[in-house]
Amino acid sequence: MSTLQEVFLVGSTGLLGNRLASALLDRGATVRALVRPGAAGEKQRVLDALRAKGVQLVEGDLTDSVDRLAAAVGGASAVVSAVQGGPEVIVEGQANLLRAAERAGAARFVPSDFAIDITRLDDGDNFMIDWRRQAAARFAGSPLGVLSVLNGAFIEVMMGFMGLVDWDNGTFSHWGDLDQPLDVTTVQDTADYTAAAVLDPAWADGGTVRFAGEVLSMRGFHEAVERGSGRRLQLRTLGTADDLRAEIERRAARSQNPFDYVALQYQWCMVTGKAKFDALDNDRYPEVKPTTVEQFVRDVDSAA
Ligand SMILES: NC(=O)c1ccc[n+]([C@@H]2O[C@H](COP(=O)([O-])OP(=O)(O)OC[C@H]3O[C@@H](n4cnc5c(N)ncnc54)[C@H](OP(=O)(O)O)[C@@H]3O)[C@@H](O)[C@H]2O)c1
Repeated sequence: MSTLQEVFLVGSTGLLGNRLASALLDRGATVRALVRPGAAGEKQRVLDALRAKGVQLVEGDLTDSVDRLAAAVGGASAVVSAVQGGPEVIVEGQANLLRAAERAGAARFVPSDFAIDITRLDDGDNFMIDWRRQAAARFAGSPLGVLSVLNGAFIEVMMGFMGLVDWDNGTFSHWGDLDQPLDVTTVQDTADYTAAAVLDPAWADGGTVRFAGEVLSMRGFHEAVERGSGRRLQLRTLGTADDLRAEIERRAARSQNPFDYVALQYQWCMVTGKAKFDALDNDRYPEVKPTTVEQFVRDVDSAA
């Protein structure tokens, strides 16, 4: 097998992919990145910074022909996707990318999973994870080692998109069992663990690797946010996990847009314990020292 030091990355302008490009370079990899044409403004600045760090940029799109994508992959041994999008990107685009990686002779393929435990969920639990499970079904049988990297929830997402903390009103709202353990990881730590796994020859046959920067309950999360921010947040229980499922169904019946309730779907998967990791692979990469929720909140506060 060729060395894994040459990586073809898709999604390098994104939240995770940008940090992943740097984390791969820090580990001595060569990174070639597929970027969609037409960059301007902030995206152009991101691309300039990537180029300055030594990333080779190749224009293209996941929907390009397999031949064209395979030419872009070139001699890379690992193809890593950190894209976000609908089924045309996550299912069809990534299936296309895998075919291109096969044609180019790559050894490893890492799809854009980066989530709670997608292997334990059922169709309908979370529509965005359904797409990742559909994509995984399309990858089955590939001669490449397909490695799925799972990180629980981004701490950034728990502090924002999930809608748990309301700083203005001084509240922390949650559904379900306050003591159910949850897997959470910062974006940076996810990038660092992913880079380590991508370049690790131990995953030659692919598989699923699970990391968590911290495992803590909603009660623990609330306490960590209070310690990190130095602020008291009144704890509000919105209902049981069954109440949450009923709320999701109510919203789904009212809305044509599933993004209106996807944050609640992620919470349901977590607070029921259904998408909880059984075991972690953190110990394989002890050089990664993950940030705790308390430290994360303290760092954000002191940067503000
Ligand atoms: N566990 C969690 O809590 C959590 C939270 C958020 C995200 N994630 C996961 O992390 C992964 C990355 O998400 P993100 O938030 O970093 O995404 P993001 O910031 O939205 O970036 C998406 C990237 O994908 C690229 N892209 C989209 N469609 C493409 C196409 N057709 N061809 C080529 N490139 C394309 C975008 O390029 P352009 O710059 O050209 O648009 C961008 O670089 C996803 O799997 C997402 O589900 C996990």
